[in-house]
Amino acid sequence: MNNPCDLNMNFKEQIQKNRIPRHIAIIMDGNGRWAKRQGLARMYGHRQGVETVHTITEAAAALGVEYLTLYAFSTENWNRPKEEVDALMTLLVDTIAKETPTLMKNNVRLSTIGDLSRLPENTQRKFKDCISETSQNTGLNLVIALSYSARWEIIQATRNIASALQRGEILLEDINEEVLSSYMTTAQMPDPDLLIRTSGELRISNFLLWQLAYSELYFTDCLWPEFTEEEFYRAIVDYQHRERRFGKTSEQIH
Ligand code: FPP
Repeated sequence: MNNPCDLNMNFKEQIQKNRIPRHIAIIMDGNGRWAKRQGLARMYGHRQGVETVHTITEAAAALGVEYLTLYAFSTENWNRPKEEVDALMTLLVDTIAKETPTLMKNNVRLSTIGDLSRLPENTQRKFKDCISETSQNTGLNLVIALSYSARWEIIQATRNIASALQRGEILLEDINEEVLSSYMTTAQMPDPDLLIRTSGELRISNFLLWQLAYSELYFTDCLWPEFTEEEFYRAIVDYQHRERRFGKTSEQIH
């Protein structure tokens, strides 16, 4: 079988430096399948996946991407076997502790989106520490979606708008796209320009449903642990060849 990740082309050279996507979101998928193919336990795949997170974060920072949002743990992932959930939480804590110096070195600012209250206390604490340590960095914003789902986020936003309405802080007729966006967990960020999903699955899986309205979608058969810098550059080159019309005609754009 051909490996979809064996790339000979030099995509980095083809990137137009003045049209780097401001915000790239990634559904990192295929860790389990990658491990299974090697006859290993699923956690080996997740551990290898962390190496890919490291590589892609450094590549994004070097290119001048402003926001990189990674779907690390969905609301639905709580339904996985307890041993896998526990091992993933330990991996997250260890990774954050180990990677904080690399984030500092690369001027990366960490933040999270999702229902962090469901995470074990030490996991929450490690993330809070790293968020505070990197808060003054001015380069790439690395956003980790943890215990996140878009439907959860939309429900939170709706509740908060309804309660602001009840308190008389906003009027019904004031509710528009901008207001709804400001109640999302991503309020301070631009919408993703590009969404990448690895492993050949062609789904959004409850990720950033509101924010992805006009994002360009890029799917690759490559599994996350084998997703390389070159694959990342290839996705960006592909994005740069798209025509983003936002509902307008091609003639209006040119
Ligand atoms: C999807 O693969 C991957 C996950 C649910 C976890 C991803 C988490 C990491 C790579 C660690 C992230 C670490 C940081 C610090 C962001 P899967 O298990 O669904 O694979 P499968 O579909 O092949 O079973």
